[in-house]
Amino acid sequence: MQNYCMSVRPLGRVMIESRLSQKLLDSRLEQGARERYIPGEQWFRKGENWFSITAFSNPFKTVYTELAVLTENRGRLMELVGNMPLVFYGVGTGDTEAAIVQWALEAGLSPAVHGIDVNWEFLEVFLQTLKNLSVEYGRDIFYRGHHTLFQMTDGRQFGSGKKAHICLGNTVGNFPQEEIFGVFKSNARKGDLLVLGVQLGKSPKKLLEQYRDNAQMKRLIMAAIESRKDLPLRSELAWDYNKKTGAIEAWLGGVQVFRSKKYDVGGLVGYAKQFGFEKVDVFERGDCAVAVFKKA
Ligand SMILES: C[S@@+](CC[C@H](N)C(=O)[O-])C[C@H]1O[C@@H](n2cnc3c(N)ncnc32)[C@H](O)[C@@H]1O
Repeated sequence: MQNYCMSVRPLGRVMIESRLSQKLLDSRLEQGARERYIPGEQWFRKGENWFSITAFSNPFKTVYTELAVLTENRGRLMELVGNMPLVFYGVGTGDTEAAIVQWALEAGLSPAVHGIDVNWEFLEVFLQTLKNLSVEYGRDIFYRGHHTLFQMTDGRQFGSGKKAHICLGNTVGNFPQEEIFGVFKSNARKGDLLVLGVQLGKSPKKLLEQYRDNAQMKRLIMAAIESRKDLPLRSELAWDYNKKTGAIEAWLGGVQVFRSKKYDVGGLVGYAKQFGFEKVDVFERGDCAVAVFKKA
């Protein structure tokens, strides 16, 4: 009998490699509390909170809208990506990421897939998704999960040759922009693709309303900081739209505990250019855009 599970093969020594300790994440949380800016990876340390938001109460329906945008533009996207290794920055539930892998399999490829995430469970669930796809299509997938922070990655981890760096679900909106674009810049080489899925800030007022009084969002944020007794944990979250940065923010007694920047396509294209990424194509639907860039 064929051992179907063997058709997901490790890229390198192990299937999922961890470079991250809870101690390091705790110290980043402590530093964040001191500097009054909680870094975004903290919200994802407990997988179940993210799973419940994406399943029922995502203020932005991101995963599904983005999946629709990607599906509508599947032909063009796969033409650009071709046989490049797929490097996913932030796997989460992996719905959109799995669709891209599926299209590679349907094109007769045996794709190389890297998943980078702060949460081990997401990388493990994604591995199972890949196994299922591999069985369904009877083709090998070469996978490596990187349990680490984007900020700790090095482009050489993903092998030589041109790659597609893919960051979906408005993940980029949770970071200081120079930090996340700096990561892409240092990891990508000339000719690599950068594919960004972002949310557009067409209606900030509506957006604010969707975040405010959203019990699941609140749970995600509060679970990340509950161990910090030095923070005013009993206070109410104050939600705001920051016109200057374009971000929806949540504040707790002077500490910025959450942020999600919303973009406009022109601004994004101009900003990416400063980091050496030229626009190739932008796909849009409603409040969601997927922008494809090439490293010059
Ligand atoms: C907004 S979710 C998007 C997930 C998925 N791409 C989607 O579209 O549904 C962000 C993902 O990035 C991961 N993440 C956030 N910050 C990170 C960091 N600094 N380093 C590594 N992973 C991070 C989270 O664990 C989560 O899986």
